[in-house]
Amino acid sequence: MNSIKVGLLGLGTVGGGTITVLQRNAEEISRRAGGTIEIIHAAARDLAKPRICDTTGIELTTDPFAVVGNPNVQVVVELIGGTGLARDLVMQAIANGKHVVTANKALIAKHGNEIFAAARERNVMLAFEAAVAGGIPIIKSIREGLAANEIEWLAGIINGTGNFILTEMRDKGRDFNDVLAEAQRLGYAEADPTFDVEGIDAAHKLTILASIAFGVPLQFDAVYTEGITRITREDVGFAEELGYRIKHLGIARRTPLGIELRVHPTLIPERRLIANVDGVMNAVVVKGDAVGSTLYYGAGAGAEPTASAVVADLVDVVRSLSCDPNSWVPHLGFQPDNLADTRILPVAEVQSAYYLRMQVVDRPGVLADLTRILAEHEISIEAVIQKEPQQGESLVNLILLTRVVMEGNMDRALARIATLDALFGEVTRIRVEYLK
Ligand code: HSE
Repeated sequence: MNSIKVGLLGLGTVGGGTITVLQRNAEEISRRAGGTIEIIHAAARDLAKPRICDTTGIELTTDPFAVVGNPNVQVVVELIGGTGLARDLVMQAIANGKHVVTANKALIAKHGNEIFAAARERNVMLAFEAAVAGGIPIIKSIREGLAANEIEWLAGIINGTGNFILTEMRDKGRDFNDVLAEAQRLGYAEADPTFDVEGIDAAHKLTILASIAFGVPLQFDAVYTEGITRITREDVGFAEELGYRIKHLGIARRTPLGIELRVHPTLIPERRLIANVDGVMNAVVVKGDAVGSTLYYGAGAGAEPTASAVVADLVDVVRSLSCDPNSWVPHLGFQPDNLADTRILPVAEVQSAYYLRMQVVDRPGVLADLTRILAEHEISIEAVIQKEPQQGESLVNLILLTRVVMEGNMDRALARIATLDALFGEVTRIRVEYLK
């Protein structure tokens, strides 16, 4: 029976959940793994802090390098996050010949290419299922379950905090900061919550998903990233009137010109299943040429859902001890010397439909000017809503839905619209995806 001794870096939400799940389900896990998983050493910044788990029998330290250097530790589980210390620890663990399991999406998105190469060199496993969409086994699903397919596109709600905020704003008219504070209290938000609301966390996860879907190196810097901070309650309401929901999506699509990689608020037709994924839940739609559209739904954050993915990776490590390293599933699902150098498209070349909202002076000819500018940039209009001005007001809210256009054309049209003296303030633009 293969058994492993584990060193844990980080005793926060996910670290605590991992200890609890391993203890509670020890017997079932060992029946599955064909061996036992024992945490023998753990590092935390503050040992006096109250814990959500029982650490009896685990040697505790404030020095994470002591865990990484412990000769009895075979697998290091990295749950401290960030890309500074975490990177040094993971590289040191690999250099020491230890297998590594991590939930650190920023680390994999930014340094995965280098880390994978080091792990291959040292013949150790590097597993990161918990890095994307918490408890949903989306990495395994794409990398292994959909291995027969050419993946055409994927689109996901991959930041629970952002989805929670948008849902609460729509359903309860709650204030943005109030909802964010609740997500932080529940342990869903990142240490730096701007990572959630500015789309950086989702961009980390999309980077990983896209590489696994298309067999290209990790390219975090190539992701176009827009957060949810500029979405207003009015936008949510107008989108509903038009039959859409606003969701913060990560989208990766293969096109004849290259790969689209983008994270931004998106209008989705309300009849799509993913448009109805609410609260802190995550969901990813993956479209493969053979399987068609598939949907993966579940908790994307939180102690035990994320621990579920961490422990599954540990089970893989136990199982792998009896197999030849050449038979391990490659990190990105494609053989490392066979990754493609497909171009990632600049966002100006991305094709998308648009929701546009603007405030304009209520006088004849304004709508004509706007539609003329759009027509000159080959932008066709799908729907228009003009709200009646409130009593005594001279401004009206104008909402336009366009057909699919090239983003560069939209940029040029909006630059022209910005010069119209009938326009008040800025134009809000949100991309629309039909996910067909
Ligand atoms: N901050 C992340 C989220 C946690 O809200 O989804 C899981 O990565």
